[in-house]
Amino acid sequence: SERTNAFEAIGGTDILRRLVLAHYKNVAAHPELAPIFPDDLTETARKQQQFLTQFLGGPPLYSEEHGHPMLRARHLPFPITPARAEAWLSCMRRAMDEVQIEEPWREAIFKRLTLTAHHMVNTEENEG
Ligand code: HEM
Repeated sequence: SERTNAFEAIGGTDILRRLVLAHYKNVAAHPELAPIFPDDLTETARKQQQFLTQFLGGPPLYSEEHGHPMLRARHLPFPITPARAEAWLSCMRRAMDEVQIEEPWREAIFKRLTLTAHHMVNTEENEG
């Protein structure tokens, strides 16, 4: 039987490319996020697109090239405070609005990203 995954339902590779570009444009302009990201976000965006493809049920592009995501471990070098997690989510929320991810996918995907973002927090607010 055919099952549609979120990756296909929202528009596949094309929409994810636009989503990721919009997200990192927001990240680059965010005063709390820009300082912990590289100046050139090309490679970051490429990896994020691979990751989101598999996160949403598409082909496992990230794992094929980089191995197990271990996202929390990969984020440990960066001080991720609760405020930075909320900032990241606000950048993603606006990107989703910009590229018009449709309901019910938008809300469902945003909920999963919220859980993941909170899981990345590794630094208390006053140490960040
Ligand atoms: C990489 C920050 C949440 C997925 C990174 C990098 C930073 C960062 C600074 C390194 C960029 C680079 O050197 O290229 C944050 C912050 C978050 C957050 C502040 C707030 C909670 C997330 C979430 C996801 C995610 C929710 C998944 C949905 C990734 C991926 C990479 C990455 C896939 C690339 C890892 C690699 O090097 O292979 N993030 N991130 N991040 N982030 Fe996040």
